[in-house]
Amino acid sequence: MSLGADHFHALYATDPDPWGFRTRWYEQRKYAATLAALTRPRYRRAFEPGCSVGVLTAALAARCDEVVAWDVDPTARAAAAAECPPHVRVAAGAVPGQWPEGEFDLLVVSEVAYYLDRDDLDALIDRAVGCLADDGDLVLAHWRHRTPDCPLTGDDVHAAFTGRTGLHGQVSHVEPDFRLDVLSKRVESVAAREGLC
Ligand SMILES: C[S@@+](CC[C@H](N)C(=O)[O-])C[C@H]1O[C@@H](n2cnc3c(N)ncnc32)[C@H](O)[C@@H]1O
Repeated sequence: MSLGADHFHALYATDPDPWGFRTRWYEQRKYAATLAALTRPRYRRAFEPGCSVGVLTAALAARCDEVVAWDVDPTARAAAAAECPPHVRVAAGAVPGQWPEGEFDLLVVSEVAYYLDRDDLDALIDRAVGCLADDGDLVLAHWRHRTPDCPLTGDDVHAAFTGRTGLHGQVSHVEPDFRLDVLSKRVESVAAREGLC
């Protein structure tokens, strides 16, 4: 079964930044890798499900005209709203059962999909593919170690996304601790888009 909102409410009740997103070098370095992996300089409209306190969200916002950021926890949402500029719309929502309207040219699924069970992960992938613009990037970043209570590992998540037909790998970065993939509907590499190859 996917982890429900109560699991996260309990975490935020004891620590307003349970994973140390604001303070840990591990997280700062991973965010820098995530931003460096984006294949375009700018995006029209991004969606980050599970935005937590909004540290990654705020960094993404500098590259986007509009960002939709959702979380199931109100403490996290309040912190994210305070962290982010006005073109970030922070709202309540639990994926994949809920999903924002419209098309996105940037989807960032970072440290959230291993909380889902297999059926919900499949539904998440369907939702992501369904709303990803033809010129868009789908970014995945997940911890690779097994975590108590999580139905899936980061590697399970990335294998399911990368195995989906119609998505092409643009970036694949694997470390002992986390994996980062950027997938897109278009086949052309960054260099090919600029006629370099
Ligand atoms: C580990 S944090 C990831 C934060 C951020 N994406 C990052 O990489 O820095 C996971 C967040 O996802 C939220 N969350 C968990 N399941 C969710 C779901 N099904 N829909 C939306 N948010 C969810 C949690 O409340 C938590 O704040």
